[in-house]
Amino acid sequence: MATKRTPSNLLGSKVCILLCILSIGDMSCTAEESSKYRSGLQYAFYKHSCPRAELIVHQVVRSAVEKEARMAASLLRLHFHDCFVQGCDGSLLLKTVPGVIESEQDAAPNLNSVRGFDVVDSMKAALERECPGVVSCADILAMAARDSVGLGGGPRYSVLLGRRDSRTANKALANKNLPGFSFNVSDLVANFANVGLSAHDMVVLSGGHTIGKAGCDKFAERLTVNPKDPAPLDPSYRKYLSQLCPEGANTAADVNLDVKTPIRFDNAYYSNLLKNRGLLHSDQVLYSTQGFSHDQVLLYAHSNRAWFTDFVKSITKMGSLSPITAYNEGEIRKKCGYVNP
Ligand code: HEM
Ligand SMILES: *[C@@H]1O[C@H](CO)[C@@H](O)[C@H](O)[C@H]1NC(C)=O
Repeated sequence: MATKRTPSNLLGSKVCILLCILSIGDMSCTAEESSKYRSGLQYAFYKHSCPRAELIVHQVVRSAVEKEARMAASLLRLHFHDCFVQGCDGSLLLKTVPGVIESEQDAAPNLNSVRGFDVVDSMKAALERECPGVVSCADILAMAARDSVGLGGGPRYSVLLGRRDSRTANKALANKNLPGFSFNVSDLVANFANVGLSAHDMVVLSGGHTIGKAGCDKFAERLTVNPKDPAPLDPSYRKYLSQLCPEGANTAADVNLDVKTPIRFDNAYYSNLLKNRGLLHSDQVLYSTQGFSHDQVLLYAHSNRAWFTDFVKSITKMGSLSPITAYNEGEIRKKCGYVNP
């Protein structure tokens, strides 16, 4: 691709140079590489318009996580489910308004499952008090995800900001784009490719399941021994799970996704997979299916550092999926659940 020095190219290469300094981007700062970050997002976007924005989000996340450790997981998942549906635009947060908005929260992968909206609302309220009409809900999700990762002991990283909020939601697209827990590796690869993420990103970001919980209905099928299952559970782990879900899929319980260190953001997610202790089918297949994903799981199981480095790159890429950045598009919502009147 021929590269002209337009202002946006200049911005792209600056961002790339910064990424290189932080060594979270690709080390070779070619025009091609810098173009990957030419999403219009910036580090320290609120430096002048709302200098304490990142601090305020951090404080709210910290107190919410102190109250309930799982909230870190729930907030991280919100950013993921936002970005996979028409980009990181806060669309997930919109509530149903009959005839106007069909909430993505009612799509199958989200229904009775995504949580943390009260915490998002209190971050938004605190930010509106500090600097009204400045910080978008989409950026709140990106910042809260970053803080949740860090508070759990994960990598600390600078987060790209400057997203604006959508005035639409798309429930049908949420049903189509969000991955299913019964997916095999090829389904997962296709699902991530559909939004512009690679197979490599898919394995890296699946490690998000190092924190948080899943309902019994998401893995009950795996509790019955099936000789044809390409990704069977470790028998002792299966017995343990059967005790936690005595009524199978009808048990209203949530079970830790990472059996070893459930609230620590670490590579135990990957080392569990080596012992067939991945809770969801979509987790275990990454190791049980021979090929690139198996090899990548092995690498991360043995190197927390390698996973952290790759996680920062992949979540930055996920956070840059089709943001709204043009000043005449989208808006800065006053309340995250509703478009501005
Ligand atoms: C690879 C495909 C993925 C599938 C099939 C998947 C599926 C699921 C399912 C079924 C649950 C349990 C929901 C419930 O029982 O209510 C869950 C929870 C969770 N997912 Fe994923 N997920 C995937 C990728 C990701 C990614 C990329 C992230 C973030 C980087 C992520 C973060 C989480 C977190 C943190 C939780 C726990 C949430 C909580 O405890 O509130 N997942 N996921
Ligand atoms: C993965 O699952 C899909 C159905 O979701 C199926 O068509 C495909 O053959 C499976 N691929 C492998 C490699 O098992």
